[in-house]
Amino acid sequence: MSRKLIAGNWKMNGSRAEWRALAAAVVQQAQGVAADFVVCPPAAGLADVATVVQGAQVALGTQDVCAHGNGAHTGEVSTTMLKEFGCTYAIVGHSERRTDLAETDGLVAAKARAALAEGIVPIICIGETEDQKTKGLTTKVLDGQLRGSLKDVRPARAVDIVIAYEPVWAIGTGKVPTAADITEACAHIRSLLIELLPDTGKSVRILYGGSVKPENAAEILTLANVDGALIGGASLKAESFVGIARAVVAKAA
Ligand code: 13P
Repeated sequence: MSRKLIAGNWKMNGSRAEWRALAAAVVQQAQGVAADFVVCPPAAGLADVATVVQGAQVALGTQDVCAHGNGAHTGEVSTTMLKEFGCTYAIVGHSERRTDLAETDGLVAAKARAALAEGIVPIICIGETEDQKTKGLTTKVLDGQLRGSLKDVRPARAVDIVIAYEPVWAIGTGKVPTAADITEACAHIRSLLIELLPDTGKSVRILYGGSVKPENAAEILTLANVDGALIGGASLKAESFVGIARAVVAKAA
């Protein structure tokens, strides 16, 4: 089994004291666990968390990036600034931003290109809504989102980008697709990646996200073409976040 990427999206939660404590607990508990870890605090917490994870096995990620370079973009944070904080990953196109801020596939692709240009690995999120799933549109939606969100995105190496498949209806709901549905969606994403990125697509990591917990992690993360997880709620406690990795490593052993 290849090494899994376990990414925590803390969303807009916590306080300075809580971010520092959570990061320290993750660093401590991740020691010796055979997985790659990344934590993505809110932008306001990057400096605090950066000092805690520095030199540890846990990478620092951001929940968003600006598609533009430094300049007149009020309220935004550039990739060069994020790089200075030690960010090596950036979530782009999360469904909450696609919904709350009307982010389009084109904007997501521009953010992915900006991250890539700065040596930050974009974690590009895609996923269908419940309505789209009910109507049998999942494959079509994933197809459109992936093609649009990868427009002119050209990673030199497979490790330079990550795709996160997050069915919108599974986020924060406790609902999880069947193993067969995840397998089908991720197989489709893999075939598209091979088509769009002939040199690297075969090995780009695909994460599953949506109500992942230690209890369901071993089943989900050992499915074909699932190379890790993007975790929301369960990433807010070090025990459950690292517990997800432990469950997968234990099953593989
Ligand atoms: P939950 O793990 O809380 O369902 O959130 C998933 C998610 O949105 C991660 O980006």
